[in-house]
Amino acid sequence: MERIYSLRRQAVLKGNPILRDKSFEILVNLVKEKKPKSILEIGTNVGLSGIAMLLSCETAKLTGIEIDEEKVQEAKQNYLDFGVSERAKIFIGDASEIIKNLTGKYDFIFLDGPKGHYFEYAPDLVNALSKGGILFADNVLFRGYVSGKVKTPHRYNTTKNSMQNFLNFLQQNKELKTEIFDIEDGISITEKLV
Ligand SMILES: C[S@@+](CC[C@H](N)C(=O)[O-])C[C@H]1O[C@@H](n2cnc3c(N)ncnc32)[C@H](O)[C@@H]1O
Repeated sequence: MERIYSLRRQAVLKGNPILRDKSFEILVNLVKEKKPKSILEIGTNVGLSGIAMLLSCETAKLTGIEIDEEKVQEAKQNYLDFGVSERAKIFIGDASEIIKNLTGKYDFIFLDGPKGHYFEYAPDLVNALSKGGILFADNVLFRGYVSGKVKTPHRYNTTKNSMQNFLNFLQQNKELKTEIFDIEDGISITEKLV
């Protein structure tokens, strides 16, 4: 894992958007605890969280979704370098299209794609989650705008409202148990109960 931390530091220096440190630790510990067999990551970037999840659970298989082809190539190289390529595949394209057509079930979903689309993805993701599965979403408090700690600039109103709708959707569904954590950019952890 030390190499992952080093690559994470390099990614931050390059301005690559990766999961923040505390949220990353929570993600990795949750994967260690839950031992999912199948993981879906929306927004793979260069694959660093995906690799960390695979290294934390040796029986897991990962499916990623990423729109940026250069990032996909880098992620694939990273999967090879870390010896996890046989357990990892990536769909290249817009998550809006790919999520609609998912057929498999996933024990763990890490949602870390475009922030304005979480609400749109939510019904299909809940559907794709196995019973007892976990949906871990990053950026759900979106710079403090969703919690109201920071006043939302006009241009971010649509994204903030969409994120609020996403959280309401999860919290109002009786088949789900959702906790929201005001850590870094905000994470939500949802368990599918039935
Ligand atoms: C925050 S980064 C993901 C970081 C990664 N999960 C990690 O922790 O290492 C978000 C990624 O979502 C990708 N993305 C943005 N819009 C997308 C879309 N519509 N469909 C699929 N991927 C998208 C971006 O290219 C970017 O790589």
